[in-house]
This record gives sequence, structure tokens and C-alpha cells, in this order.
Amino acid sequence: VKSIAVLTSGGDSQGMNAAVRAVVRSAIFHGIDVYGVQRGYQGLLNNDLRPMDLRSVGDIIQRGGTVLQTARCKEFMTAEGQQRGAEILRERGIDGLVVIGGDGSYQGANKLSKLGIKTMGLPGTIDNDIPFTDFTIGFDTAVSIVVDAINKLRDTMTSHERSSIVEVMGRHCGDIALYAGLASGAETILVPEVPFDLTEVSNRMADNFRAGKRHSIIVVAEGAAKGDDIAEAITKSNGIEPRVTVLGHIQRGGTPTHNDRILASRLGDFAVRKLIEGDSAKSCGIIKGELVATDIDLVVSTKKSFNMDLYELALRLSQ
Ligand code: F6P
Repeated sequence: VKSIAVLTSGGDSQGMNAAVRAVVRSAIFHGIDVYGVQRGYQGLLNNDLRPMDLRSVGDIIQRGGTVLQTARCKEFMTAEGQQRGAEILRERGIDGLVVIGGDGSYQGANKLSKLGIKTMGLPGTIDNDIPFTDFTIGFDTAVSIVVDAINKLRDTMTSHERSSIVEVMGRHCGDIALYAGLASGAETILVPEVPFDLTEVSNRMADNFRAGKRHSIIVVAEGAAKGDDIAEAITKSNGIEPRVTVLGHIQRGGTPTHNDRILASRLGDFAVRKLIEGDSAKSCGIIKGELVATDIDLVVSTKKSFNMDLYELALRLSQ
């Protein structure tokens, strides 16, 4: 491998910049030329690549978003688009590509590897929905943002003895709700992976208020239900009127935590070393603190398992 490229794709996440920096600096350390692709696969098809040097990734480790920008690209989902992408890389003498993104981005990397480009995927998404890694880049920061928001909501909910529903991101994966709910002492955590009964939720809320609790926090993943719908059902059932907060894209911005920066730095460097070894079509992850590379084929065809132990712990501690 003499020359590699790096791109960020799909929804952005905090720590993507730290990952780009690690890829660029690790490549340069190993004597490899490195290019940055602007706007993900769309930028690749537009031939929007620029050489990166050590200084081009200075002062970005602490920034949210991605300096390479990102896009969702329909054209790259077609066989012709993928073929053209591989040709553009080959014409520029680039034989390796690091893709930082989620599931969809991985599919693209997998296709390119079948067309002769060596690829490595880095899990860059706040959702923590990628299997074969304990954590994705951005998840820790997103959870911190949610916990901070819940701390603030608690203050005002307690003053007014109110109930608060906090809707968080996670279309298919409840990890943000689970971790933030556990860390902030939420009374109820609703996730797409576990069926729930709203009558039971509202009875528990009413019982708790009767027993002297001064606030009630429900964290709901967007993939489980809409906060407004939960509020309506609760009011119908027990007469309490919860206030709903939808945190939305706030969860995807801001400076990455040290955990995300370190994870991104380790994974970016690992991906470059794997490419140098000649490896391809792998997703780089971290399991119990150890760096691992898993076939992208397996990663995209496996559903991330839900941590029921943590969910049950949250239930036990939320009475
Ligand atoms: O990055 C994943 C995610 O955060 C989901 O949890 C959320 O539903 C989605 O992105 C929204 O992204 P966008 O508004 O960019 O489509």
C-alpha cells in the first residue's frame, strides 16, 4: 500500500475528526501518501480528493462534525457508481480506503473491496448500532449530552413535581436511551429492542408520585415511540401531563469526550496498520479494550445484541 484515502459518510458523529487525524498522521508516519475525500462517496464520484499533510489535520481533534464533510449518496449504491468510484481511486494510484461511518457506509466499503480497493471501516455513529465493537465513535459524547440535558430537566421537574419525557436518537438501537437513562437515574427507559406496556409505565409513575417521588423521567429512543405519543397515552391513563423534550441533532454536535477521541485515535491508527498488512473489507472495533478487525460482510449481516443486563439493572435501580 503506497497511497490511501479517507472519507466520512452517513450521519456525522463527534470524534470523526479525531479519526481522520489519526488516519492521516498514522499513514504519514508509515511513509504512505494520504488523500482526504470531501463529502463521502459523493465526493469520491465527483473526484473531490485532496492530499493531506500533517498540518491539514491540526486543531481538529477537539472539534465535532467532520472537516471532510459527509453526504448520503444514492449513486454510489448502484453497481455503476461503485465501479466508477474504484476507477477514480485507481487512476489516482490510491489502493486503500478508510471509511468512517455507519452501516450504509460499510456496505459501500465492502463493494469497493470486491472491486480491488483495500478498505477498512471505522464505526462512526452516535447510535452504537454496529456489532463487533463495544462502542462506536461518537456514542460516548452523545450519551454525555443526553445526561447533561436530563440533569437540567430534573432541576425544573423537581421544583414543579412534574414528569419529563426525553426523546433521544436511535432508530433501531436503544443504546443512547439505555446508557443515558441508566446514568441519569431515569424511572423508565423505552427502547426498540424491548416491548413495553404504557399502562404499566403510567401506573408506576402515579404510584411513585403518591409514594413521595418529586419527579419522574422517561427516556425514550425515537425508534421505540414518539415522546408526544407517550405523553398523550400517559395523560389518558393517569391524568398526569408530562413535558416532552426532543433532543434531536443537539446529540450529534459539540466537542468529543476524551473517550471518543481516544477510541477514534486508536481505531484510525489500527485501520492504517491493517491496510499496510494487506488486510481488507474489515470493520475495526474495540471489544473489552482490545482492537479487533471483523469481516464487513459479517458486521453488516449481524444485528447488534442489546445489553439486557444493563437494562435490568436500570429497572432494579429505578424504583
Ligand atoms: O446518525 C444516526 C442518527 O443519529 C439516527 O439516530 C437519527 O435518526 C438519524 O441519524 C437522523 O439523521 P439525519 O437527520 O441526518 O437523517
